[in-house]
Amino acid sequence: MPLSFSSQIITWQKQHGRHGLPWQNTRDAYRVWLSEIMLQQTQVGTVIPYYERFLNTFPTIATLADAPDDQVMQHWAGLGYYARARNLHRAAKQIVALHGGIFPKDFDDIYALPGIGRSTAAAISAFAFGERRAILDGNVKRVFARHFGVEGDVKSKVIEDALWTKAESILPKNNIEAYTQGLMDLGSTLCTRTKPTCLLCPVARTCVALESGRIDALPGKGIKRDVPHKETRMLVIIDRGEVLLEKRPPTGIWGGLWSLPEVSMNDDAIEKTQTRFGFKSRIIREMDIVPHGFTHYSLSIYPLEIAITTRPAMAMEPGIMWVNIDDAPSAAVPAPVKRILQLLALTTQNQKTQIRT
Ligand code: ADE
Repeated sequence: MPLSFSSQIITWQKQHGRHGLPWQNTRDAYRVWLSEIMLQQTQVGTVIPYYERFLNTFPTIATLADAPDDQVMQHWAGLGYYARARNLHRAAKQIVALHGGIFPKDFDDIYALPGIGRSTAAAISAFAFGERRAILDGNVKRVFARHFGVEGDVKSKVIEDALWTKAESILPKNNIEAYTQGLMDLGSTLCTRTKPTCLLCPVARTCVALESGRIDALPGKGIKRDVPHKETRMLVIIDRGEVLLEKRPPTGIWGGLWSLPEVSMNDDAIEKTQTRFGFKSRIIREMDIVPHGFTHYSLSIYPLEIAITTRPAMAMEPGIMWVNIDDAPSAAVPAPVKRILQLLALTTQNQKTQIRT
C-alpha cells in the first residue's frame, strides 16, 4: 500500500523540517500561543528576537495581563499588524478572569479568545496539548490546493470549506505535532508561492498540480482589487543632535507606538510645528519618500527634515520625547519610521565625518 500523505509529511518533518526553534520542544501553551500569534504574517527569523524579548518581560500570562497597554505595544513595535498585540493582551486578561491565569485546554475555550482563529486554535491544540486538529493557514491552503488539485479561489467560502473538510479527513492517527509542523514547514520552505522546490518535496509523486503542470495556476486567485493609496507627511524635527518623537493615540494605525509627528500633505509644516510644539523652525530638506504597505491601503511617507531655530524653555509634555539621533532607530517605532530614522542617523554621521576630514 502506498504511504499516506500524512505519514510522508511526518517522516519528512522529522528529517528535514525545522527543529530547535525557541517555541518548539515545549508544551507550555503560553509560549506556543505567543509564537503562533507572532508567526501569523511574520517570518520565523524576524519573530525570534521579538519572541525572546517579550517572554523576558512578560514571563507568564499573569504578568502580561497586568502590564500597561503601552508596555505591551512597545514590545511589538516594528513587528506590524498591531491588532495582534492588542488582542493578545485582551486575551491574557480574559484567561486570568475566566481560567485562573492558566491557558485553557478545551478547543472551544481557545477558539473563543480574542485574536485566535480556527487554524491558530488548532495549531495551539496540537502543539501544546497533542490534540488531533486540522490547521489551514494561507501556506497550508496553497499546499492542499496544489496537491489535491483544488480549483477555485482559496479565499472564497466554498473552496475554503472544501479545504477544511479535506484537511480534517487526512489527519494522522499519531504524531499530530510533527504533521502540523511539517505542513507549515513544507508551505514556507518548499511549496512556496513562486518557484516551489518540487524536486525535494516528500509528496511530489501524488501532487495533482505537478502532474498536470498547474503549479503556477494553483491556488486559484479571486479578483484582485486595487488597494487605495494614501500620502502623509512626517516631521523630522531636529535640535542639538536630537530628534522629536511623539506617542501616537491609543487607537488607529500604530496605536500607542512612538512615531514622528504627522501632518497632512497640505499643511504648512512650519506653522504646524509652531502651533503643535511651540517651536520656530526652518526646513532643511525633503528626505526620500518611504513606501509602506498595509493590508487595506498603501502609504507613501514624505519625511521633511526641520531644524528648530528657537526652542523655548518648557517642561516636556507627556507623549513627546527627544531622542539622540543615533539612538532613535532603536526606539519602539513602526518599521517605516525606523527606516526614516536610520537614514537620518546615516546622513548626520556622514556630515560629521565630512566636517572632520
Ligand atoms: N507559522 C505559523 N506557525 C508556525 C510554526 N509553528 N512554525 C513555523 N512557522 C509557523
